[in-house]
Amino acid sequence: VIPFVVAVDGPAGSGKSSVSKEVARRLGYGFLDTGAAYRALAWHAEASGVDTDDAASVISSLASFDYRIGTDPTGYAVHVGETEVTDAIRDPRISAVVSRVARVPEVRTYLIEQFRSSMAGESRPGIVVEGRDITTVVAPDAPVRILLTASPEVRAARRSAELVGSSTADVGEQIRRRDEADARVVDFMTAAEGVTTVDSTKLDFDQTVEAVIGVIRSFQ
Ligand code: C5P
Repeated sequence: VIPFVVAVDGPAGSGKSSVSKEVARRLGYGFLDTGAAYRALAWHAEASGVDTDDAASVISSLASFDYRIGTDPTGYAVHVGETEVTDAIRDPRISAVVSRVARVPEVRTYLIEQFRSSMAGESRPGIVVEGRDITTVVAPDAPVRILLTASPEVRAARRSAELVGSSTADVGEQIRRRDEADARVVDFMTAAEGVTTVDSTKLDFDQTVEAVIGVIRSFQ
C-alpha cells in the first residue's frame, strides 16, 4: 500500500515541524522532518572537523554520514552513528551553518533519494513530510500540498520563545538571514501551483493543526 503523502513547506519559525508532528499524531500517520537530515549532516560535518564552507569537503563527508530519523510522531528521534542528536541539531550553532550544507546540489540529491525511500517504506496509512522543497521537488505529486506561513514578526517571536536567553530581535535577524540563504536554493515563500497556503499568523498552535487537518480532509 502506498502511504498517503501530505507535503508541508514553509520558512523558519513557521511552526511546520511541531504542527506537522501533531497532525501526523492525530491522523495516525508517520512524520518526516527533512530539515533534521540537513541539520544532522551539518552536525556530522562539524563533529568531523569539516569546513562547511567547502562544498567538496561536505560532499566527502557524506561517505561517513550514517544517520537515522524515525517517522514515529510520538517517539521522534535523530541519530548520527551511535549518537542521539535530536536536541543537539537544534542548537543555534547548527542553525547558523546548516544552509551551507543544504545548498550543495550533491547533498540535496543524496538526501532527497533517502526521503523518497522513507516515504515509500512508511507502514502507517500516510506520512506528513515537511521541509522547504517537499511540495515542489521531493513530492510534487503528493495528493495534499501545503505552504505554512506566518508573518516575520510572529515567526521571530515563536522561535525566541523556544530559545531561552535570546532576544526576539536577534532571533528575527537569524531567521531572516537563514531564509535569505535558503531561498537562493529553493522558493518556499510563495505557494507553487496547486499548493494550499495556511497562514498561521493569527492562529494559535491548536487552530493551526485544525486548519491543516481541514485542508487534508478536503483532499481525501
Ligand atoms: O526546517 P529546519 O529549519 O529544521 O531546516 C533546517 C535547514 O535545512 C534549512 O535552513 C535549510 O537550509 C535546510 N532544508 C532544506 N530543504 C528542506 C528542509 C530543510 O534545504 N526540505
